[in-house]
Amino acid sequence: MEKTKVALIGLGTVGAGVARLLLDHGDRTARHAGRVLWLEKAVVRDLKKARGCQLPEGVLTDRLEDVIDDPEIKVVCQLIGGIEPARSIMLRLLEAGKDVVTANKALMAEHGPELCDAARELGRSIAFEASVAGGVPIIANLSTCLSANQVESLAGILNGTSNFILTKMHADGVPYSEVVAEAQRLGYAEADPAMDVDGSDAAQKLAILAHLAFGARVDWKDIPRSGIDTLDLADVRYAREMGYTIKLLAVAELDRSEALELHVTPTLLRDGSPLAEVSGPYNAIRVVGDAVGPLFFHGQGAGQMPTASAVVADLVDTCVGRTAITFRSLELWSNRPARVSSADY
Ligand code: NDP
Ligand code: HSE
Repeated sequence: MEKTKVALIGLGTVGAGVARLLLDHGDRTARHAGRVLWLEKAVVRDLKKARGCQLPEGVLTDRLEDVIDDPEIKVVCQLIGGIEPARSIMLRLLEAGKDVVTANKALMAEHGPELCDAARELGRSIAFEASVAGGVPIIANLSTCLSANQVESLAGILNGTSNFILTKMHADGVPYSEVVAEAQRLGYAEADPAMDVDGSDAAQKLAILAHLAFGARVDWKDIPRSGIDTLDLADVRYAREMGYTIKLLAVAELDRSEALELHVTPTLLRDGSPLAEVSGPYNAIRVVGDAVGPLFFHGQGAGQMPTASAVVADLVDTCVGRTAITFRSLELWSNRPARVSSADY
């Protein structure tokens, strides 16, 4: 069977999950791609660190050039977080003729359109399904399956760490500070967990979804946001007594004048409503399209294997040439102030 050589940049939580899927379940990817996806190199900073996967001899390296300079490596999963050096590395990969798959939402929210422009000019692709909602295929659905619709609203739980913490606070009465470390240990949290709990990570994901759903380029830093770090156990307890659950909700919706309103904020949801029932590191997104009506997407939004599932699906799509570059050139829409509500999403 034909072989396509692939590489990973980053072998942390997500990278190790991707390596495991490629090495242990190559038959699955081969069936869907019609070729073997061969893990040629995995680039890390620290060669001595223990890894959550067994790599064949010669795969692990700390030299980015081992990937950049190998013309046989066609597709690279860029699985390091933050903006730099992730942005420069992605540009170098594209310039070296590689297609790129990434899970980095910070990078795609901040520089996605420019990077996609660069990829287009170079005849390359960037796929980023894993950057929003982990294993939930929301980007593919917004990019292709809903293209006949004007999306009217989108409301969701987009940060698995916050939802995990809120679930523990709600169900077990455990204080916020005690759960953050557990979310880190389980691989849900960002390298800097402040991004999870202050609403920044959800705002970055909302900016990506707004781009795809509404054609709106939004600077995620302009999205009015507050996180779960503003809550204590008493808030959660009072909400429960009143029959509500608190969720960190990210919302983008068109108002009557067709302006886009976005916000990320802890929100009271009635017990029993679909989003109130989403627990642990799960994410969910309710999308309303004018033709299709309401849709509900639900699944694991953080963690090693759900995220690796999305990355490997992008790898397969890229290898068979199914990746469409979905970020388009857009006008900049201005934001409205946050609307803090106890809506029935
Ligand atoms: P980790 O911190 O676990 O892993 C990051 C990896 O990147 C490490 O292996 C690190 O190397 C490597 N790295 C960092 N800088 C460099 C560099 N300059 N050159 C080479 N390697 C480098 O992060 P995650 O795996 O959790 O996350 C990766 C990306 O995926 C992030 O953008 C994150 O936001 C995103 N994401 C994460 C999810 C999750 O549930 N964890 C879910 C969805 C998206 P070393 O190990 O040697 O330090
Ligand atoms: N830290 C992120 C979260 C990872 O908890 O949702 C998934 O993007």
